[in-house]
Amino acid sequence: NGKLLNWEGETADVFSSIHTEVDGERKPTRLGSIPSLGEAEAVAAVDAAHQAYERGQGLWPTMKVADRISCMQTFVTKMKEKRELIVKLLMWEIGKNHPDSQKEFDRTVEYILDTIEDYKDMDRDSAKFHKEAGIHAHIRRGPLGVVLCLGPYNYPLNETFCLLIPALIMGNTAVFKPAKHGVLLITPLLEAFQESFPPGVVNILFGRGRAVATPIMKTGKVNVLALIGHSSSANALQALHPKQNRLRLVLGLEAKNPAIILPDADLDLAVAECIAGTLSFNGQRCTALKVIYVHENIAETFNRKFAQAVDALKFGLPWEERVSLTPLPEPSKPAYIQGLIDDAKAKGASILNEKGGTHSENFIWPAVLFPVTKDMEVYTEEQFGPVIPVLTFKHIDEPLDDMAESNYGQQVSLFGKEVKALAPLIDTLVNLVCRVNLNSSCQRGPDVYPFTGRKDSAVGTLSVHDALRSFSIRTFVASKDN
Ligand code: G3H
Repeated sequence: NGKLLNWEGETADVFSSIHTEVDGERKPTRLGSIPSLGEAEAVAAVDAAHQAYERGQGLWPTMKVADRISCMQTFVTKMKEKRELIVKLLMWEIGKNHPDSQKEFDRTVEYILDTIEDYKDMDRDSAKFHKEAGIHAHIRRGPLGVVLCLGPYNYPLNETFCLLIPALIMGNTAVFKPAKHGVLLITPLLEAFQESFPPGVVNILFGRGRAVATPIMKTGKVNVLALIGHSSSANALQALHPKQNRLRLVLGLEAKNPAIILPDADLDLAVAECIAGTLSFNGQRCTALKVIYVHENIAETFNRKFAQAVDALKFGLPWEERVSLTPLPEPSKPAYIQGLIDDAKAKGASILNEKGGTHSENFIWPAVLFPVTKDMEVYTEEQFGPVIPVLTFKHIDEPLDDMAESNYGQQVSLFGKEVKALAPLIDTLVNLVCRVNLNSSCQRGPDVYPFTGRKDSAVGTLSVHDALRSFSIRTFVASKDN
């Protein structure tokens, strides 16, 4: 209601992707408002984080490991009390269906608990003393400084926390700006943050990205830019830092993960996995399958089965039973997807499924486009929404060449009966991307597995284990044998 933290300044309304009737007209539902912070508050936040890192009362970076863990445990206990409200906000703010909203919350709690356990293991290891050439050393991992965390709207809780939590537990201090959609759901946690961490350790900024992140970067006080989102935002922010070459980056960016369906694939399995891979959360996942290559011998059967399966999905409100397709949080997305469809059709593709491209309020029914060619925008763009380009291939070299030429390199899904026997192909694939999924769709989890990408898809790695290393540096005290 704009009264957060006794804020008396300007506020901005927050709208839902879900329309309701207001004065006889259906409109995006107004959910509340948030403070519109600007340069002065942004600079104050980064100064507070800097102060808490260098000279903070709580001495966060030098606090005993057990005490930092205890702060994190207090936080997660308080966070669990807010589950019902946060799950409801996930549904209303970003239109994520109920099971997936619950999963996002529970997965985040598990991520925090696993991070605590992994950190304890790391700390036990650092107790070992080393001796080389008469020099004793106690090697351990230490923090990097102030981290600016920016998470995406498709996982506004989980992926923001996958950056923030490992950064904090390693002893860094942080400024974080909630995602544009999925911002209200941070508000039930404000007290938990305040009561669990010393002043200045976690600084939360509400406001437009440009209004708050730009002045923060210009101060030069950010040591790590941690962002999951679009490379254009990462590049723009990095460029604002006065010493951008010294800035540490932890980035999860775009991807265009392909599915490759070999002639001997189990087509029912491939269809089911491609449905989950292309369309869970309406295709708004960096790990989504964003292009399908099907061998020409089986293309007709695969296309028919796949198009039918897309049209058999249920569209509805997030809290309705068995709903997979839901309203899209970005108001401009249906028109953008329509533009991709129009471009593909003008260049010779057709929509294979009857419902494909039909609109209703903030929603467009997923369109399966075939045959897609490389001059089409839907082939070159990371669509991040409900439209699925399908191409055929004669020889496996065709999709492999496309992957080699692509700017992205996150994951691939390979479907075929004997895929496990295709060792040379799998070796080639794993050198083009970072994860090869055999007879299954692409995904990030389980969170103990490395989550990263090659080329423009990522910088750094974000599993529970790896994130602790991404947000730290190895340090030691050496003493001579005398
Ligand atoms: O949007 C990118 C996310 O990392 C996707 O995560 O595969 O668990 O849905 P997910």
